[in-house]
Amino acid sequence: MTATLPEAELPHNKFDTILVLDFGSQTSHLILRRLRGLNVYAEMLPCTTKLADLPFKPKGIILSGGPSSVYDEGSPHVDSAIFDLGVPILGICYGCQELAWQMNSANVARGEAREYGHADVTIHKVDAHVDRLFAGLGDVMHAYMSHFDKLVKLPEGFVVVASTANSEFAGIAHQSKNIFGVQFHPELEHTPRGSELLRNFSVDICGANPSWVMGDFVQQEIARIRHLVGDRAQVIGAVSGGVDSTVAAKLMKEAIGDRFHAVLVDNGLMRLNECAQVKATLSEHLGINLTVVGAADLFLGRLAGVLEPEKKRKIIGSTFIDLFEKEAERIEKEAENTPNAGKVEWFLQGTLYPDVIESLSFKGPSATIKTHHNVGGLPERMMNGQGLRLLEPLRLLFKDEVREIGRSLNIHRDLIMRHPFPGPGIGIRILGEVTPERVEIARKADHIYISAIREAGIYDQMSQAYAGVDTNKAVGVMGDTRVYGYIIILRAVTTSDFMSAEAFEFPWALLQKIARTIVNSVDGVARVTYDLNSTSKPPGTIELE
Ligand code: XMP
Repeated sequence: MTATLPEAELPHNKFDTILVLDFGSQTSHLILRRLRGLNVYAEMLPCTTKLADLPFKPKGIILSGGPSSVYDEGSPHVDSAIFDLGVPILGICYGCQELAWQMNSANVARGEAREYGHADVTIHKVDAHVDRLFAGLGDVMHAYMSHFDKLVKLPEGFVVVASTANSEFAGIAHQSKNIFGVQFHPELEHTPRGSELLRNFSVDICGANPSWVMGDFVQQEIARIRHLVGDRAQVIGAVSGGVDSTVAAKLMKEAIGDRFHAVLVDNGLMRLNECAQVKATLSEHLGINLTVVGAADLFLGRLAGVLEPEKKRKIIGSTFIDLFEKEAERIEKEAENTPNAGKVEWFLQGTLYPDVIESLSFKGPSATIKTHHNVGGLPERMMNGQGLRLLEPLRLLFKDEVREIGRSLNIHRDLIMRHPFPGPGIGIRILGEVTPERVEIARKADHIYISAIREAGIYDQMSQAYAGVDTNKAVGVMGDTRVYGYIIILRAVTTSDFMSAEAFEFPWALLQKIARTIVNSVDGVARVTYDLNSTSKPPGTIELE
C-alpha cells in the first residue's frame, strides 16, 4: 500500500487537516481521536512520509511519540522538509526529541532508564507568542510522562514554557517560529487537560477550522461516492448484519440507490433467527437492495468431519468467496441484459481507520494484525480476479464515529451497539466438528444467554458474549434419569481494543439462572460452564478456536 491516500479518498477540500506523523507509539491514534473530538479533522501518515508527495497542505503537523531512541541505528526520522513547509509543528515525546535532534544531535541525551508515570507540569509565563500552547491551562497541569531519551539542551531559538521535577524541558517553544514540543502525552486520559493543549495548538496556533462533524461527513461521503461511481456503474458488497457493513451499505443506498447490491451469504452459522432479522433490517427497514444466498447445507456439508480450527476457517472463507463471486457474476449478467444498467465496477468494503493506520505504519503491517479476519483475501480476488475497484466509505472513521453515523442514518440502536460477530460465526465457537445438531444447540443456548443479558440491562457493559459448545460430553441428572449430554461454554469479555480482554464479572445469581435455563430448555445439554480462566487475552483468545 502506498503511504498517501489516493486524492479521491481525501476530504481535504472541505476540512482543514492536522497531519499526525506517526513514529509508532501505541497511543498515536489517540492524538487523532482527541483532535476529531474537538471537531478538528486529522489524519495520520507514517513519520517517513515524503512531504513533497502529500496531495494536500496540512494546517499543522504533529510528530507523535514512539518507542525508538533517536540514537538507534535505523530509528525513524522525519523528512527535514517539514521545517520548510511553513506550518506550525508540535512534537510529542519522541516527536519532541526528534525536533530537537534534527536541529542539533547534542540537544538530546540517550536515556538510561525509562521515566514514566504522573507528573505535575509547571507552566511558565514567557511572552504572548510562546505562551499560546499552554494558554488557559493555569500554573500547573497534571500530565502523563513516558520517555526514554531526554532533552538536555534547548535547541537554538527555543525557550522553556513548561517543566517538571525531572524534566527541565517538559515544554518548549520557538521564540519566533510556530514550533513547539512537549515531553509528556497530551493525548492520554491520564493528562486530563491534554485536549485543551491540543486545541490551543490545532485551532489557535494552526488556525484549523473545527468543522469536522459527522452530519457533514455523511453528505460529503455521499457526494464523493456519486462522483466516483458515476451515473451508471454498479457496486456490490457483502453484508453481515454487523454495524460496519450495515452503515457502509446504507451510505451506498443513499448515494446510488439500487445500483448498490448487498449480498448476505447465509452460511448456516449465524445466530438464531439472525438471517431473517438482518434481511428485515436491511431490506425492509433500510431499503437496501439485498440478495440472500441460502447456503447452510453447502457449508455444513463441506465442514462435515473437519476438526482442525484453521481448516474450518479456510473452508468457511473459501466457500463464502465462491458464492460471493458467483453472485457478483449473476448481478453482472443481469446488468448486461438491462438496458439502463451499467457494469459492476466497484466492490464495497467496510474498512475502518484503525485498519488503515495499521497498514500504513512505517513498520509495515504489525505482527498483531489478524490476517485470518480478512475473509480469505476477498478484496484481492474481487480486485485482481474480477477487475473491480475498491470502495471504502468508512476508511477515515473510528468505530464510535461509524456508530454515530449509524444513528444519524436511522439504524436501530440494537444493531449499532451489537457485539462483534466473527465471519466464520458459530463455526469457531463449536470446538471440533461442526454438525447440524451442535449448531442447533449452540444457537439455542446462545439465544437464551444473550436474551438474559439484554433483559438484565448489562449487554452494553460487556464487549462480546456468546455460548459455545465443547467437544466433550458430560453426565448430568434430569428428573430421575442420568443423561449424557453436551457441555456449553459461556463466555463474556470486556475489552477496549480486542487485543487484550478480561472475563466479565457476572452477578452470580444471574449466571446460575442462565445455566439452569439452558440445561432445562435445550435438549442434549447436560452441563453449563462459565469460562473464567483462559478468557483473559492473552494467553487466551476471545473466540474458542
Ligand atoms: P480473538 O479470538 O482473535 O478475537 O481473540 C478477537 C476479535 O476478533 C474476532 N474474530 C474474528 N472475526 N473472523 C472474523 O471476522 C475470524 O476468523 C475471527 N476470529 C476472531 C472475535 O470475534 C473478536 O471480536
